[in-house]
Amino acid sequence: MFLLTSLSILHFFLLSTIFPSIVVQVYAQCNWKIGQDVNTTSGIVSGNASYYYPEVSEYLGIPFGESTAGSKRWLPPTRYYGTGHINGTSFGAACPQSLGSSIPISVFGINPNQSEDCLTINVWTAPQRGEAKKAVMLWVYGGAFQIGDSSVSEYNGAVLANNQDVVAINFNYRLSVWGFPGAPGLEQQNVGLLDQRLAVEWVRDNVAAFGGDPDRITLFGESAGAWSVDFYSYIWTEDPIVNGLIAESGNVLGEGGPGVDLLNELDGYAAWYNLSSVLGCGGEEYGAATVDCARNKTANAIWNATYSFGSSDELLSPTFVPWIDNKTVFSDVVARANNGQFIRKPLLIGTNYNESILFSEIADVAGAPLSNATMLALNNNFRCGARDEALAKGKQGLSAWRYLYADNIGDVGATHGDEVPLVFGNDTGMSGIFQTAWAAFAKDPVNGLLNYGWPKYTRNGSTLLLIGPNTEAIVDLVSSAVYDEYCPHSVISP
Ligand SMILES: *[C@@H]1O[C@H](CO)[C@@H](O)[C@H](O)[C@H]1NC(C)=O
Ligand SMILES: *[C@@H]1O[C@H](CO)[C@@H](O)[C@H](O)[C@H]1NC(C)=O
Ligand SMILES: *[C@@H]1O[C@H](CO)[C@@H](O)[C@H](O)[C@H]1NC(C)=O
Ligand SMILES: *[C@@H]1O[C@H](CO)[C@@H](O)[C@H](O)[C@H]1NC(C)=O
Ligand SMILES: *[C@@H]1O[C@H](CO)[C@@H](O)[C@H](O)[C@H]1NC(C)=O
Ligand SMILES: *[C@@H]1O[C@H](CO)[C@@H](O)[C@H](O)[C@H]1NC(C)=O
Ligand SMILES: *[C@@H]1O[C@H](CO)[C@@H](O)[C@H](O)[C@H]1NC(C)=O
Ligand SMILES: *[C@@H]1O[C@H](CO)[C@@H](O)[C@H](O)[C@H]1NC(C)=O
Ligand SMILES: *[C@@H]1O[C@H](CO)[C@@H](O)[C@H](O)[C@H]1NC(C)=O
Ligand SMILES: *[C@@H]1O[C@H](CO)[C@@H](O)[C@H](O)[C@H]1NC(C)=O
Ligand SMILES: *[C@@H]1O[C@H](CO)[C@@H](O)[C@H](O)[C@H]1NC(C)=O
Ligand SMILES: *[C@@H]1O[C@H](CO)[C@@H](O)[C@H](O)[C@H]1NC(C)=O
Repeated sequence: MFLLTSLSILHFFLLSTIFPSIVVQVYAQCNWKIGQDVNTTSGIVSGNASYYYPEVSEYLGIPFGESTAGSKRWLPPTRYYGTGHINGTSFGAACPQSLGSSIPISVFGINPNQSEDCLTINVWTAPQRGEAKKAVMLWVYGGAFQIGDSSVSEYNGAVLANNQDVVAINFNYRLSVWGFPGAPGLEQQNVGLLDQRLAVEWVRDNVAAFGGDPDRITLFGESAGAWSVDFYSYIWTEDPIVNGLIAESGNVLGEGGPGVDLLNELDGYAAWYNLSSVLGCGGEEYGAATVDCARNKTANAIWNATYSFGSSDELLSPTFVPWIDNKTVFSDVVARANNGQFIRKPLLIGTNYNESILFSEIADVAGAPLSNATMLALNNNFRCGARDEALAKGKQGLSAWRYLYADNIGDVGATHGDEVPLVFGNDTGMSGIFQTAWAAFAKDPVNGLLNYGWPKYTRNGSTLLLIGPNTEAIVDLVSSAVYDEYCPHSVISP
């Protein structure tokens, strides 16, 4: 235990060398061979050494869900089971995605190979050393529910596995119209969120064989991935499976941000009927029959149809996004937050100082620059929602920690996504701060961060962790009041 209330600034990665590990490291599987076969519910997977860290075994492209093509399109995913051999040396195809005309997805490093048979998962692990049952960090990618792919090099789990003694995992889930159709007659609208749950279940059932601890799974994500983590916390209260939650720059209590204008029954199935009409399947007058008809179209035809009416900027104002169905996305989420109707596990949540810059740049490319007022509103949407989620946990006596990644505050500050390469990155400087903290949380969500002197977030007091003010790899515990000055009101009652 190390109390920092007397210190104004703490050097996180310095501390990590003072306290190299809280957990005694014994019982490693010293006979483990890099990339050895692992028996999973999907089959026998053979892996390979990570290109970055040869001591890390990586297992790529393991199917966890059946293909979602054709008759399975727009339905909840079904678990993939197999007993055959799986060659885990290359990533699976990305789920279908595009941003229409505005920005080519190649700039995001997304696998050009796309398929509706895309529900695959990737594992990075080093069982030959460290804890025998390692904490698991399960990543949910962002991209406004429009883009994202587990093969993106920024999300490679090798560094986390190599330097933090965790099992790092990520996976693909369906996007845009494929994951969030907003179509009539469906039992489940947000099948992309159900893909995420299926991945969590696969990890629960299989991670022990990779040296992971199924009782210590932390779900973490950024942007739409953080929204997903937060959605997850309201959906799966009965059987959470996960033991900790990390939401980076996204949460369901913020309003009006990108991808945040959730669809609902008041909108009707407008976007869907636009799509079905263009596909030649008829519009509203055909009701649920339009869905069966569209299942008989090719993936390319569906894309083509989408871009004949879709938004000109599918990142800033996406057409197909999560739908309020009161099953997976709830209209009364503020009441649920106040009443504690969420997974009762610790939360680490935060935002970046100037989230809006990235969106502003995207808007510039699309030829519709954002006003300063919009940028301020965006920043506050992220920041105040994160605060409120942290307060909601605290109100229930649960642990929550809150950070603000500042970086270069005197200029314009860190923008949306800036912390992601640091979380997955090379463990030095600013990256070391993120990785040490994230892994400490995953290893022990209740005490891990307290052991580093980072207090739980409270409404008052100096409990907001400011990471990297003025580009220095340091942290500072500050009062949040000054940073939340534009949103003094919280939707969480005391
Ligand atoms: C894999 O695990 C399953 C279930 O435990 C078992 O039935 C099967 O024999 C195992 N296969 C191999 C090759 O060990
Ligand atoms: C295994 O990893 C090594 C080192 O990165 C690489 O040279 C080799 O091509 C990989 N094997 C396969 C089958 O991908
Ligand atoms: C991290 O740095 C080391 C040493 O410079 C390098 O070998 C390795 O490839 C880097 N890893 C990543 C993921 O960039
Ligand atoms: C696995 O696939 C890679 C190419 O992606 C190939 O080089 C390798 O030989 C395959 N391994 C097996 C055991 O089939
Ligand atoms: C693309 O993905 C599909 C489905 O995973 C796979 O069968 C195919 O080999 C991949 N193609 C390339 C060029 O990687
Ligand atoms: C449907 O298409 C019409 C005509 O192209 C367009 O004006 C409208 O915005 C679209 N609505 C939705 C929800 O996509
Ligand atoms: C559409 O339905 C016809 C007749 O059932 C079938 O032959 C065809 O393969 C289907 N096309 C697609 C893309 O599913
Ligand atoms: C989709 O549009 C492209 C370009 O406009 C066209 O070449 C292609 O044939 C279309 N595909 C289908 C299935 O309609
Ligand atoms: C969701 O629940 C609210 C009441 O909490 C209700 O007004 C709304 O109609 C419901 N929506 C759906 C899609 O069930
Ligand atoms: C937005 O704010 C910047 C300073 O941060 C200022 O230079 C710029 O003129 C402002 N733009 C508008 C449209 O007010
Ligand atoms: C955010 O960045 C923009 C420029 O991209 C700047 O105009 C604005 O003042 C910054 N906001 C804050 C709070 O620093
Ligand atoms: C925090 O607020 C509570 C009441 O909301 C008050 O009792 C307490 O003194 C405050 N603590 C600090 C450090 O301001």
